[in-house]
Amino acid sequence: MNSITSFLDASTVYGHTPNLQSALRDLSSSEGKLAVNSRFIDQQGRSYLPFVPNTPSPCFQDPNHRQGHRVDCFLAGDSRVNEVLPLVALHTLWVREHNRIAEILHDLNPHWSSEIIYQESRKIIGALHQIITIRDYIPKIIGRDAFDQYIGPYRGYDPTTNPSASNVFATAAFRFGHATVSPVLRRLNESFQEHEQFSSLSLHETFFSPWRLITEGGLVPILRGLLGTPAAVVNPDNLLTKELTGKLVTLNVPGDLDLAALNLQRGRDHGLPGYNAWRRFCGLKTIRTRGDFRQVANDESVADKIMDVYKDLDNIDVWLGGLVEEPLSDSRTGPLFSCLIAKQMGMFRDGDRFWWESEGVFTQSQRMELQTHSLSSVICDNSDVNEAPLDPFRWRCFVLLAESPHIAEPKKIAVLVLFSIKVQSKPSNRIAIHTIFIQIKFYKLRLFFLL
Ligand code: HEM
Repeated sequence: MNSITSFLDASTVYGHTPNLQSALRDLSSSEGKLAVNSRFIDQQGRSYLPFVPNTPSPCFQDPNHRQGHRVDCFLAGDSRVNEVLPLVALHTLWVREHNRIAEILHDLNPHWSSEIIYQESRKIIGALHQIITIRDYIPKIIGRDAFDQYIGPYRGYDPTTNPSASNVFATAAFRFGHATVSPVLRRLNESFQEHEQFSSLSLHETFFSPWRLITEGGLVPILRGLLGTPAAVVNPDNLLTKELTGKLVTLNVPGDLDLAALNLQRGRDHGLPGYNAWRRFCGLKTIRTRGDFRQVANDESVADKIMDVYKDLDNIDVWLGGLVEEPLSDSRTGPLFSCLIAKQMGMFRDGDRFWWESEGVFTQSQRMELQTHSLSSVICDNSDVNEAPLDPFRWRCFVLLAESPHIAEPKKIAVLVLFSIKVQSKPSNRIAIHTIFIQIKFYKLRLFFLL
């Protein structure tokens, strides 16, 4: 059973079944909006995700909460939304972004039905997910060379490409991300320093704790923490933080879990072939000797330890083997995961009839406008974070002034152009034709190059 769709279509925001889709919509709204929380808003009046319908829900509560201040699990298009606070924050941003776009479309096209506004806003949100994932995130994970080799420029929809998520991608390769998780969630103030009121948290303190968002300063300190902290570097000696191997919580299994063990067991449970089989699949050299493995692994002693445990190289679980490979230059993954992730991402894109660049989905000028967006623009538009790197997936290339005390003067000021789309209705055609109406908002995204 899939929890979301395989396409990069923002089903994490809208759900993947008609029932969930309806539950997530504000069906009383004439503006095609998504439902928001009816009990809580943040200090600036911004909305939170709605609560799940079945309450009391199993999410943790503030130990000091007063009567009537119960905070239940949030409801989103993906049931895993409450796992960690940063995930809740991102889900919240996307619901706000949908509603923001829906409001603009409603203002520009007051004659539109709620349904048309919902669908048009959803189409834009889907495109933004695709752009941010493929343009901004994936090249940094797999490296530019692998991107060019396996994905390359877009050449249009290919009906012969299977866009479903492969077993090895979901069960092993894309779980590389577990080794990039930091043990601490930093919460930062407007100077990107430790927040005076809401200190940083150990990761396990953020599991299934939506109450922290409501009572501890909302999204902003968390978003600043995410922007101002680099992802953990894969460390072969300590692949996953102990927060994940010793303190993981999921609501359906009692007790603390070990995510590394889950990943390994899940791979076997799904019958995944071993590490060497996948290396051959990617045209990489089969690892035949201890020496071969030492060469591809990031750390020789770890290679030895793995060999001692598995004895036979063909038995090495693909998640573990892939994770300990030396990363390719300018990437976060070794050759095997880079290949598996790249092939999959290429198939998600090429096999998607509604890909944002596919013929007839958007006009040329709309595509140009969509490309001016980034995760930073979504953050700035939907929270009170008003300083962010232009590329939020890069750390250090562009730094915020507050993080670099040795930069006395701004070297460069970047302006992020945001847009809205005016959609002209075609009465006889439910799929309206868009024309771009550039409503430019200038954002003070101060950006400084480290020279
Ligand atoms: C604190 C952060 C995270 C936590 C607590 C977490 C937790 C989990 C858990 C509990 C599972 C299910 C394991 C199983 O039973 O098989 C899972 C699956 C998965 N995780 Fe994570 N994860 C985190 C971050 C990430 C990141 C950063 C990525 C990728 C960039 C990622 C990718 C995946 C994938 C692809 C799956 C498999 C989904 C499926 O098809 O079922 N996770 N994660």
